[in-house]
Amino acid sequence: MKITVVGQGYVGLPLAIAAGNAGYTVYGLDNNVEKINSLVNGISLIEDLTDDVIKESINSKRYQPTTDKGVVANSELVLICVPTPLTPDHKPDLGALISAITTVGKNLTAGTLVIVESTIEPGTCRNLLLPILVKQSSLKESEFELAYSPERIDPTNKKWGIGNTPKLVAGLTNNAAKRAEKFYGKFIDSITICSSLEIAETAKLLENSFRLVNISFINELAIFCQKIGIDITEVISAAATKPYGFMPFYPSVGVGGHCIPVDPIYLANAAKVVGAPSRFIELADQINQEMPGYFVGRAEEKLGGLKGKKVLVVGVSYKPNVADVRESPVEALINGLKQKGAQVSWHDDLVKEWNGEMSVTLSSDFDLAIIATPHDYLDLTRLGKVPILSTRGSI
Ligand SMILES: NC(=O)c1ccc[n+]([C@@H]2O[C@H](COP(=O)([O-])OP(=O)(O)OC[C@H]3O[C@@H](n4cnc5c(N)ncnc54)[C@H](O)[C@@H]3O)[C@@H](O)[C@H]2O)c1
Repeated sequence: MKITVVGQGYVGLPLAIAAGNAGYTVYGLDNNVEKINSLVNGISLIEDLTDDVIKESINSKRYQPTTDKGVVANSELVLICVPTPLTPDHKPDLGALISAITTVGKNLTAGTLVIVESTIEPGTCRNLLLPILVKQSSLKESEFELAYSPERIDPTNKKWGIGNTPKLVAGLTNNAAKRAEKFYGKFIDSITICSSLEIAETAKLLENSFRLVNISFINELAIFCQKIGIDITEVISAAATKPYGFMPFYPSVGVGGHCIPVDPIYLANAAKVVGAPSRFIELADQINQEMPGYFVGRAEEKLGGLKGKKVLVVGVSYKPNVADVRESPVEALINGLKQKGAQVSWHDDLVKEWNGEMSVTLSSDFDLAIIATPHDYLDLTRLGKVPILSTRGSI
């Protein structure tokens, strides 16, 4: 069976490779020409897939990266994995999704199953995407199928990958859900069918909102623990000895990436529209955005002022061991330090270049080092006697 995966990023690329390995012939469609050129040359753009894996999939003809939208017409199944970010004024930005679904609609043939994996608010598949598909394809609703299956990938997670992370699916019709279940069943161990598209759409937003709320709560508690002079990480470890009813979350400079700071805003937006505002999400979002400023204050306190001080920020990606800097709270940390007059440099061998600046070497030539994102590769002994401010508790 030929399939197209639209969007070859953190979600679409591993999915395309896994589907190829399961025996499907996969077109990896993306409108980023540079990205497709890299993939065609066997260069992987994400940490979880090596160049060899990409090359092997291409050579075996199981995977073909392309910018040719015509591949959609040649596919029995089309997956949509394009970004659903926020606008500069912090509202859902469906531009990429609408553009992708319009492309798919224009090339859609009767009998095709379209599965949306991008994170969206409840009602988006039924009320926004379905009418676009009908209009652009000139097909009737009954002539193709639509399903939703939220992605749960956690980049660099060694324990939970595509195959063993349970998958939710929901269809506009029972048949769509069954076809989606059959497709994923070839390479995913456990699949749960939800009774409606809206259940699956909301479940994904619940998962990520749960993380945002809890991480913001633990960050707020970390500020309290620091004030009374106790180590939050020890408090969490102690609480986590309770075998039920508690789940540990850990402090940081804030949440980042394309999911946790973004998806809850989709839920909060939907909640506001129906007059049931989510105050938890709004507060958690506010606390999250305040965390970089809090650590700027801690640095200022530690050095007795930041003007002219040489500060090194260590780790700039949104979480350890990835090169992804989307929505990284470290950007606000660096900007806050600069605003207070500090001379800020940053070190991150995974990111290397960011916002027109290059990663500097870890050395003892600084007044303060702020450990923002503790990658496993870091050798902090190279900082010598530089005072350290950790954003992860302990110090
Ligand atoms: N990154 C994650 O860990 C993660 C986890 C779960 C869910 N998600 C969700 O999955 C979706 C995709 O996220 P991602 O991290 O893979 O994004 P990404 O930015 O890594 O990749 C998206 C790709 O889509 C391409 N694209 C954009 N518009 C397009 C169009 N109109 N036609 C063809 N290609 C287009 C981009 O060039 C890019 O390569 C989002 O809705 C996100 O919320 C992401």
